[in-house]
Amino acid sequence: MRMWLPFLLTMFLPAQDAFLVKPYLQLGDAPRLAAMERVELMWHTADQDDAWTVEVRGPRGWILQPGPTFRRLAAPPLPVHRIYRTILRNLRPGASVPYRVKLNGSAVFEAEAQTRKPGNHRMIVFGDAADGSAPQAAIAKAVAAARPDAVFITGDLVYSRGRAAEYRARFFPVYNSEEVPLLRRVPILGVPGNHDLPFGKWADASAYFAYWSLPLNGPALKAGEANAAPVTTGVHDAVVAASGPAFPRMASYSFDYGKIHWTVLDSNLYTDWESPAMKAWLEADLRAAKGAAWRIVALHHPLFQSARSHFDDQWMRTISPTLEKYGVDLVFAGHVHNYQRTAPLRFKPTKVGPRGKAVAGEFTVDEAFDGKAITRAKGIIHIVTGAGGAELYDPWQTDVKASWQPWTRAFISDKHSFTVLDVETKQLKLRQLDAEGRELDSITLTKALGR
Ligand SMILES: [Fe+2]
Repeated sequence: MRMWLPFLLTMFLPAQDAFLVKPYLQLGDAPRLAAMERVELMWHTADQDDAWTVEVRGPRGWILQPGPTFRRLAAPPLPVHRIYRTILRNLRPGASVPYRVKLNGSAVFEAEAQTRKPGNHRMIVFGDAADGSAPQAAIAKAVAAARPDAVFITGDLVYSRGRAAEYRARFFPVYNSEEVPLLRRVPILGVPGNHDLPFGKWADASAYFAYWSLPLNGPALKAGEANAAPVTTGVHDAVVAASGPAFPRMASYSFDYGKIHWTVLDSNLYTDWESPAMKAWLEADLRAAKGAAWRIVALHHPLFQSARSHFDDQWMRTISPTLEKYGVDLVFAGHVHNYQRTAPLRFKPTKVGPRGKAVAGEFTVDEAFDGKAITRAKGIIHIVTGAGGAELYDPWQTDVKASWQPWTRAFISDKHSFTVLDVETKQLKLRQLDAEGRELDSITLTKALGR
C-alpha cells in the first residue's frame, strides 16, 4: 500500500496543491516603463524537481516564457522550499495579459496580469497590514473590490517579525485567494518597516528580500555596510542566500508608474539619509525625475504626524528640504496605525537631536489649500496610511482636534482604511476608504500645464 501512496496523492490532490504559495506578480527589476513591458511572476513549491513552465497568451496563441529559475530558502521553521520566478516579457503597457503556469505539461494556474499603465491609473496604498486579523482580511477584500492597477504597502508588511513562516500564514493567502485575487493580478510593491527587519532571534526574518522582487536601483549597499539592514552571520545566512542581489539593496529603490515617479526609502534607524552616500542617491534620484508629472516619496516612518503613539519617531523630517527642493508632491508613510493628512508643508530643521528623536524646526503651512476649491498645493502633503490591518492607535484623537498638530487636516483612527489614488497627468485625486468602501476623506491636487 505504501508504495501506492505517492501515485494516489498525484491522482486525487487538486493541482493547485502543487503550490506552497500560489503565483504572484512583482514589478521586478524594471524601474522604468518600457515600450514592451515585463512583469515578474513568482511562486513557492516544495523542494522537489518538477517541470514548471509559464506561458503568456499573445495574439496568435500561448507563448512560452524563458525559465523559470529558482532559489531555495532553508530557514526554519518552514521546511526547505523553492522560490520560483520567471519574467513575463514583451507585454503591451496597460494590458491585462492572460498567463498560465504548467506543471509537468498540465496547466495548474491561470490568471490575468495587469501590466504597468503609461497614463491614467489607480494606485492603492496602505500599511501596517498582515497581522492575520479580521480587519486585515476586510481591508484586503475592499482593496481588491476597488480594482487597483497596482498596490503599495508602506511597511510593516508582515507581523510580527516579517518572517517567512508569517508570510506563508498571513500574507500570501490573504492577498492572493480566489476571493481576493490581488497578487496574481496586479503588482504589489512595498518598503520594509520596523517589523520587517533581520531580527536576531529568527532565521527566517527579513523574508522581504527573498520573497519580493522590486527594482535594484537603490543605493548600492553591501551586506555589513553602514545603512544596510544588519543581518547576523550564522542566523540569517539562508535568507541572505535566497535573496541573491536583492539583499541588502532592495530596501530602497525608485520606480515610475504612469506619470508618477515614486522614490521608496528604507527609514529604519540603521539607515542614515543624512550620510553623504545616501543623500547623494536621494538627490540624484529626484533630480532625474524632473520630467515626471508627479513625485511621490514612500517610506515607513512618517516625517510629520499627530498621534501620541510613536510621536518621537519623526526622525525622517531632516529630508524634507531635499524633497521640497525637487518638487515632491506627496509623502506616504505608515508606522502609525491610523490615517492622517497634513496641509501642504515646508519645513526647515533647526534642532536635529539624536537619531530616533523628533526633529524640531520651522514650518511654513499652506493654509489656503483645501483640496476642494483650492487644489494647487504650496508644499508637500504628508499622508499616514497605516490603518491597513493592525490594531489602531489612539482612536480617541479622531474626535479631539485639540490633540492634533496645527498642520494636521485629517485624523481618522476609529476605522481601518486604505488610500485610493486616481492619477491623471494634471490631476490627482486621493480618497481614504474604509473596509466597506465608504469615503472617509478626499482631496484633489492639480497642477499647472508644463510643470
Ligand atoms: Fe512600524
